[in-house]
Amino acid sequence: MNILVTGASKGIGRSLSVNYCSKGHRVIAIARNNNELSRLQEECETGTEGKLIPLNFDIKEINDNKKVLVDFVSKHFKHIDILVNNAGYLSKALFHETTRDIIEKSFQTNYTSPFFLIQYLMPLLLKSKWAHVINIGSMGGVQGSKKFPGLSAYSSSKAAIAILTECLAEEYREKNISFNCLAPGTVQTEMLEIAFPGYKTDISPDMMAEFISSFSINQAGQENGRIISVTEADF
Ligand SMILES: NC(=O)c1ccc[n+]([C@@H]2O[C@H](COP(=O)([O-])OP(=O)(O)OC[C@H]3O[C@@H](n4cnc5c(N)ncnc54)[C@H](OP(=O)(O)O)[C@@H]3O)[C@@H](O)[C@H]2O)c1
Repeated sequence: MNILVTGASKGIGRSLSVNYCSKGHRVIAIARNNNELSRLQEECETGTEGKLIPLNFDIKEINDNKKVLVDFVSKHFKHIDILVNNAGYLSKALFHETTRDIIEKSFQTNYTSPFFLIQYLMPLLLKSKWAHVINIGSMGGVQGSKKFPGLSAYSSSKAAIAILTECLAEEYREKNISFNCLAPGTVQTEMLEIAFPGYKTDISPDMMAEFISSFSINQAGQENGRIISVTEADF
């Protein structure tokens, strides 16, 4: 399959890219850290059946660099089967300390850029026999879940991507494409370690990656418009 993963240089996105390559798929892996992308490419080339194609790209710049993105992806893929909007931004700040910059970066990375990524790549998604768009949300962005102080900008941007998922599922209901939002609880990554120093969870990036990978491959065309919490109880 042809797969695109954003936020592939570390954490869940890195594990997910390796996971897909180990299953023999072709992965365009997007992130800003070129050194980490090269290391990831090396790891996939030596240890897996698949092919990893790195793209050094800041998704926040997507509107200015639309042509760069679309030309690159079209050069490598005639169609896209799975798109995982995984890149994320979290800056912890209490409500009264939250700046416009934090709000803008949170919404740009977690909502607006995935919005346009899907829009710009839609022609390639629609060329797949059955495409699947997975938006990575967060438990904090799920209505009724327990909320934590300092995450108002982050969690509301994740709620926005979750609702976008439901909207797209409805708008494209008659097409050969599914949209689902997977909303993790906690995963032991740099993002968690910076936001909640010392906090330990049993869920590793590899475990979450396997959940996302299996769901994206097996549930295309089965599930659509769902916002699915993925917590320790699911492992
Ligand atoms: N870890 C958790 O407990 C947890 C819980 C719920 C949801 N999530 C969500 O899961 C996803 C992955 O999180 P993680 O914990 O793996 O985070 P992470 O370790 O901080 O990794 C984030 C990834 O996103 C990339 N990224 C960030 N901004 C980018 C941009 N503007 N353009 C391109 N790439 C960008 C980073 O790469 P570069 O810096 O190289 O660009 C990195 O590869 C996020 O959406 C996060 O919100 C995580």
